[in-house]
Amino acid sequence: MNTLPADSLSKRLVDELAERGWTTTDSFLPPALTRALAAECRQRHALGLLAPAGVGRGTAQAVREAVRGDSIQWLEPGQAPATDAYLAALETLRQQLNRSLYLGLEDVESHFALYPPGAFYQKHLDRFRDDDRRALSVVFYLNDDWQAAEGGALRLHPAGQSTADLLPQAGRLVLFRSAELLHEVLPASRERLSLTGWFRRRGAGLF
Ligand code: OGA
Ligand code: MN
Repeated sequence: MNTLPADSLSKRLVDELAERGWTTTDSFLPPALTRALAAECRQRHALGLLAPAGVGRGTAQAVREAVRGDSIQWLEPGQAPATDAYLAALETLRQQLNRSLYLGLEDVESHFALYPPGAFYQKHLDRFRDDDRRALSVVFYLNDDWQAAEGGALRLHPAGQSTADLLPQAGRLVLFRSAELLHEVLPASRERLSLTGWFRRRGAGLF
């Protein structure tokens, strides 16, 4: 299923990504699909399928609540109609990004993330030291009627520019360069749901 309108990757998004390394758009998916994804995330959480997220990769991975307090579950094809629709939307976006920015993005990985009240993710870069495949980070938010007073912003720290705070509003998509853009998740007074993912390039071939 292709849920992305053909013009979803507007000139503004492409220009902002190229010029400042990040961009955002609202109403990325139809509200019914966004609601279905939120319900799916809550249901998986209730079933105990979300696990505390680690920091780092492979054997270096450790659960450190001082760094990040979210719980996650990776998306796999065939799990649910809503997650399949989301993966299809990301695949369409991948092809559009490749056509307009020549990024050579090969695939995409994504997980549900649930931050309980008070949880945060300290300032970090998304690219692992031992894996340079992550090129573009993509975050899609699932929270209805988010208020600024509830906290929980994604705070971007672009080099040489002022910081930008983006609230995790349902339907909002954020794209940024994984290797360059420092960012953090501020603590919130309510549960915060999202889908976080990465468009990846071919590995450099370390071996
Ligand atoms: C991450 C991350 C941002 C957000 O999971 O690496 O930075 O707004 N998430 O959830
Ligand atoms: Mn991150």
